[in-house]
Amino acid sequence: MQGKFITLEGTEGAGKSTNLAFIETWLQARGIDVVVTREPGGTAIGEKIRGLLLDKSHSEMHADTELLLMFAARAQHIQEKILPALAEGKWVVSDRFTDASYAYQGAARGMGFERIAPIEAWVQQGFQPHKTFIFDLPIEIGMARVASRGGQTDRFEQERHDFFEKVRGAYLQRAELAPARYAVLDASQSLEAVQAQIIANLQALLEA
Ligand code: TMP
Repeated sequence: MQGKFITLEGTEGAGKSTNLAFIETWLQARGIDVVVTREPGGTAIGEKIRGLLLDKSHSEMHADTELLLMFAARAQHIQEKILPALAEGKWVVSDRFTDASYAYQGAARGMGFERIAPIEAWVQQGFQPHKTFIFDLPIEIGMARVASRGGQTDRFEQERHDFFEKVRGAYLQRAELAPARYAVLDASQSLEAVQAQIIANLQALLEA
């Protein structure tokens, strides 16, 4: 039996990491073999590309280059890691995937969804996540959470408030276009409330 592919999306500080660990533990407790991964990255080559993408000194990076590097890392990720794991019956949970390219490059960088779609089709040939969780919350709350963690910011985290408003809006727009694939979670609720919704979705996936 093929495994299932789950992706997590959201703006910075929306709780993806905490809930990624929660999903992994929940699935493992039900005897499922889980591969946890992330984008950009997830493979040795992809992690090198991630380094290029997040490096703050690369302020001259053109939006087209950024988009193509995202998809170059993704092509390697799909072929080397995701598809083989799914074929072995494992479930794959990825911290971000193609919806992030629509939100960050398509909307926030202003490229438009129509520039992303042909590249997605070329790289993925119809391959899509079975379920995408969108952790949605007001940008100020997420930014305050990120600031309270301290540490270095990357090239994307340096962006301004309106950039992230566009990212947030694009995720919600994507979810409206294909509601069956997405679960939009109000990440400003308590962790328990968010996780109850995650469980309901995972249960449905298990039974599907
Ligand atoms: P992370 O902070 O969730 O690890 O993701 C790294 C950054 O990369 C994040 O700011 C979102 C951005 N990103 C894109 O701009 N496009 C993409 O396709 C992906 C996967 C991530």
